[in-house]
Amino acid sequence: MFARGRCAVVLGLLCAAAVSAGALVCPTGCECSEAALTVKCVSKDLRDIPSGIPGYTRNLFITGNHISQIGPESFQGLENVTNLSLSNNRISEVKSHTFSSLRSLRSLDLSNNQLAVIHPEAFTVQSRMLRELNLSRALYNHSSVMDLATSLRWSSLSDLLVLDLSSNGLVFLPSGIFCHLVGLRRLQLGNNSIVSIHNGTFTGLDHLQELDLTHNALRTLREEALKELEQLHSARLHLADNPFTCTCDIEPFAAWLNGSRGQVVDIEGLTCAFPVALHNTSLLTVGDLELGCHKAGDSDNLALQTSYVFLGLVLGFVGLMFLFVLYLNRKDIKKRIYDMRDACREVWEGYHYRYEIDSDPRLSQVSSTADV
Ligand SMILES: *[C@@H]1O[C@H](CO)[C@@H](O)[C@H](O)[C@H]1NC(C)=O
Ligand SMILES: *[C@@H]1O[C@H](CO)[C@@H](O)[C@H](O)[C@H]1NC(C)=O
Ligand SMILES: *[C@@H]1O[C@H](CO)[C@@H](O)[C@H](O)[C@H]1NC(C)=O
Ligand SMILES: *[C@@H]1O[C@H](CO)[C@@H](O)[C@H](O)[C@H]1NC(C)=O
Ligand SMILES: *[C@@H]1O[C@H](CO)[C@@H](O)[C@H](O)[C@H]1NC(C)=O
Ligand SMILES: *[C@@H]1O[C@H](CO)[C@@H](O)[C@H](O)[C@H]1NC(C)=O
Ligand SMILES: *[C@@H]1O[C@H](CO)[C@@H](O)[C@H](O)[C@H]1NC(C)=O
Ligand SMILES: *[C@@H]1O[C@H](CO)[C@@H](O)[C@H](O)[C@H]1NC(C)=O
Repeated sequence: MFARGRCAVVLGLLCAAAVSAGALVCPTGCECSEAALTVKCVSKDLRDIPSGIPGYTRNLFITGNHISQIGPESFQGLENVTNLSLSNNRISEVKSHTFSSLRSLRSLDLSNNQLAVIHPEAFTVQSRMLRELNLSRALYNHSSVMDLATSLRWSSLSDLLVLDLSSNGLVFLPSGIFCHLVGLRRLQLGNNSIVSIHNGTFTGLDHLQELDLTHNALRTLREEALKELEQLHSARLHLADNPFTCTCDIEPFAAWLNGSRGQVVDIEGLTCAFPVALHNTSLLTVGDLELGCHKAGDSDNLALQTSYVFLGLVLGFVGLMFLFVLYLNRKDIKKRIYDMRDACREVWEGYHYRYEIDSDPRLSQVSSTADV
């Protein structure tokens, strides 16, 4: 009796130990696999990073929850985590050194969040292990890009290989935003609203192998942008699905494409979006003929014709003004004409009279006798 009781107590203790160990081994709402070194806490309405994540974890997925706050205290004791995904949450702020305790972190996925505030050392990871940073659809709006630029500069990411910034509504890229990512191989900027590329946009990306600029708002690439892309000599470029506008502005870009020898991998897919008449025309076939930019003779003629028309208009106007002035002074002029006519008549009549006198001998005699 006594022995059985002791046994039950021991069993109970063992059970309790097992249960508490189980609770320690895997946090509620998560599935843990020690064999796969993986913990998944997926779509469980979690509001915070759960505590008690086992130390063996290499792959940690806390995705599809309602997590809004993360900070340096969130990931204590997880020195073995190499892959961390926090995608599909509501994270709005990343504090400095949030991931510093994750000493083995190589891949960080923050895609599909609402980052509005990113502190300068948000992505600092000890021993510069971070290789991959996914910020696809992660920024709350374009305004966060300045914070992002600062943190990319301050977070010592010189060994980062892959950066995904796609689908963030980015309109422009601050000059030098990537200049500290000297090891970057792949840069995803697709599905944004980037309108132009300036001197300095891609400074520092000397080892880039792939640049995705598809689905942006580029209408053309000007000389400045082409120089910038040329600096990325070993990078394969993706440029399709931009609203390229085939007016004279596209010429330098079209010529550059024609000579770019395979740097642009989707070159066959680049087409004019505007004007309507050239819609879907390949940028490789858009030449002088279709755009009509360099018909110097024609434009000279046009200028000449324009100046003739202008001259004609001016002369016509002057003529009209002259007639108008005449009209306004019509009475005065009439009077003068009459005066002139009368004066003329007097002169004429005097002359005529004298002539008649001179030509009539009798009259001249009369006049001479009268003189006498
Ligand atoms: C991390 O992994 C190593 C080797 O697999 C192990 O010795 C260590 O205890 C782990 N760290 C923690 C906190 O469990
Ligand atoms: C972990 O990240 C690496 C890239 O750093 C990747 O190749 C690997 O597939 C990832 N593992 C898992 C389980 O997601
Ligand atoms: C980043 O995450 C998005 C969505 O979660 C995914 O589609 C994309 O492939 C990821 N990027 C990289 C470079 O793995
Ligand atoms: C981004 O969101 C913030 C906060 O709501 C707002 O103040 C700012 O104007 C927004 N910026 C843009 C470009 O929409
Ligand atoms: C492009 O980005 C928008 C948000 O800016 C997103 O809603 C849309 O799903 C993205 N499209 C693709 C194909 O990723
Ligand atoms: C680009 O900027 C650098 C310095 O910031 C300058 O030396 C260079 O001349 C500029 N290039 C062009 C094409 O403006
Ligand atoms: C554009 O051209 C491609 C083939 O060159 C064709 O498949 C596509 O339907 C065309 N699109 C439009 C809108 O005409
Ligand atoms: C493209 O380049 C070739 C020679 O490399 C040249 O003959 C052709 O005229 C160029 N086409 C255009 C549209 O510039």
